[in-house]
Amino acid sequence: MSDINEVGATAFFVAGIREQEKDREHALFRDPYAEWFVNDDIRTKVRQVFAVLPEGMELVRYRSALFDDIIRREIAGGMRQIVILGSGFDMRPHVFQNEDVRFCDVDQAAVLAFKSQVLEAHGVTPCAGIPCNYLEVDLPAKLAEAGLDLDAPMLIIWEGNTMYLPEDLIYGFLNRLREGIPSFRIAFDFFDKSVIDRTTGDDDITATTDAFENTLKVKWVTGFDDLTVLEERTGLKAVESGSLFEFGKRVAPDVPTEIPELHLYLHGILANGAA
Ligand SMILES: C[S@@+](CC[C@H](N)C(=O)[O-])C[C@H]1O[C@@H](n2cnc3c(N)ncnc32)[C@H](O)[C@@H]1O
Repeated sequence: MSDINEVGATAFFVAGIREQEKDREHALFRDPYAEWFVNDDIRTKVRQVFAVLPEGMELVRYRSALFDDIIRREIAGGMRQIVILGSGFDMRPHVFQNEDVRFCDVDQAAVLAFKSQVLEAHGVTPCAGIPCNYLEVDLPAKLAEAGLDLDAPMLIIWEGNTMYLPEDLIYGFLNRLREGIPSFRIAFDFFDKSVIDRTTGDDDITATTDAFENTLKVKWVTGFDDLTVLEERTGLKAVESGSLFEFGKRVAPDVPTEIPELHLYLHGILANGAA
């Protein structure tokens, strides 16, 4: 665990949110593995970060449920290869347990090593994984080496990552994916630029952003107003977008009272080729 850097350590924080779902009256998703990655220090951090704006944690719940929903839909539509990019302690390959679908984690070596160690201690075999900094390697080549078929459709789940990555590196990375994988969809979450720039005009959002960065010792550096610039800079096509709060309103019976700024946490799907 001591080898895991600050961005890697954010994976513990998300597991700390997911582990609480089992205690909810209206659970939106199942992740019985999350608690294996959480300790009291992480629980305290989760409480501290969301002390001012508990609705922020609701948005992360909706995010988990949304990505589950995307995976379910895609599998129902015939998708057979799913890459969990910046996977952290995502356990969907085990939660979904589908023999017909090939899953592959991608994350930093130290994160995947720790994940494997925890799973093996519980007698669970980790899913295939590619240890790397995905911004620095030829990811399509690595996926092919790991046995994925670059000529068949691929779904890439990119959850809780974009905000940590410099904008230009995101464009370069997505361009390399477009050049190397003929048919894929990449689903991701992102903040509106105003959250990153502290210009929402909402003191609670700014306080929560500051609390997250100070507690986790990381910076959120990139946000997008919408998907237009991503389409322009990558040649990918936007096929879906929306706010996590709107999704939450559809699926969660216990959704908090609406405040306009809750719409500043969004998701999108970009597609290449026929996927
Ligand atoms: C906030 S966590 C999200 C983890 C998981 N997707 C989830 O939602 O629970 C961010 C994860 O992305 C990984 N990550 C971020 N940038 C990365 C990069 N360039 N290469 C590999 N992994 C990266 C981090 O190591 C960390 O595990």
